[in-house]
Amino acid sequence: MKILDGLLVSKSTKDELKIKVAQQVAEGKKSPHLAAVLIGNDGGSETYVAAKVKACNEIGFKSTLYRFDADISENKLLNLIEELNTDEDIDGILVQLPLPKHIEEQKVIDAIHPSKDVDGFHPENVGKMVQGLDSFVAATPHGIMLLLAHYKIDTKGKHAVVIGRSNIVGRPMSILLSQPGNPGNCTVTITHSQTVNLKEICLQADIIVAALGKPEFLKADMVKEGAIVIDVGTTRVPDASKKSGFALKGDVLFAEVAPKCSYISPVPGGVGPMTIAALMNNTFKACRQKL
Ligand code: GUN
Repeated sequence: MKILDGLLVSKSTKDELKIKVAQQVAEGKKSPHLAAVLIGNDGGSETYVAAKVKACNEIGFKSTLYRFDADISENKLLNLIEELNTDEDIDGILVQLPLPKHIEEQKVIDAIHPSKDVDGFHPENVGKMVQGLDSFVAATPHGIMLLLAHYKIDTKGKHAVVIGRSNIVGRPMSILLSQPGNPGNCTVTITHSQTVNLKEICLQADIIVAALGKPEFLKADMVKEGAIVIDVGTTRVPDASKKSGFALKGDVLFAEVAPKCSYISPVPGGVGPMTIAALMNNTFKACRQKL
């Protein structure tokens, strides 16, 4: 069993970007600038946005964090996005999801100009991704593809089972794995809360991407010997032994599943850091396209 080390791979991706940014700046061009918008006080969202801003600092990107209370009006948020859309210095815009209930998420996603949509959530980017055209690809599935590529995992003809159909992970993941290329060329089954016989389907999988958000859901009796398991879960569960008061749990019961796998990504240190690296890639690309 081999660990898919997202920390290691994300570091090498970020190191490469750091060199490219330094070159760009040495040529007298601007450095990439990410605008991150964080609304409310959700602990998880705060951690993720802080990690994104930190990564920008590490590799020489500019970042600006816009923080608002949970009661910000939808209009105020849409006005800010419009300002960021027209701000010449801003290359990428990220609005951390989920948003408070009174704000319509789709309206916010639609408002971000597709050329600055480094999250790859805008329908124009999703449509291009589905058609295999050049686009911004959502950071988590993009990061998983980078991880599979780094370990030179041959995915051709493999049966990939994606658990979860969210717009952020499951759906784009299923498309990317089915597309021509390597990683890609998989036969994909996308499963969700209404799927019947999930265990039987998972037992047929050569690759499982667990992205349903239920801690330790995937057990050893659902996994075939030699499978590749990618764990996208990041649920905070109370843990008095931790300084933070919580532990981060994946969707996979790691201790039980790992011995059966050929490769497995851990939580933390697997998909999470790759999501950040992929977002940095997208932000650099947005900047390059403008230059
Ligand atoms: N919430 C969970 N994952 C993501 C992500 O990749 N981007 C944004 N903006 N919000 C998220």
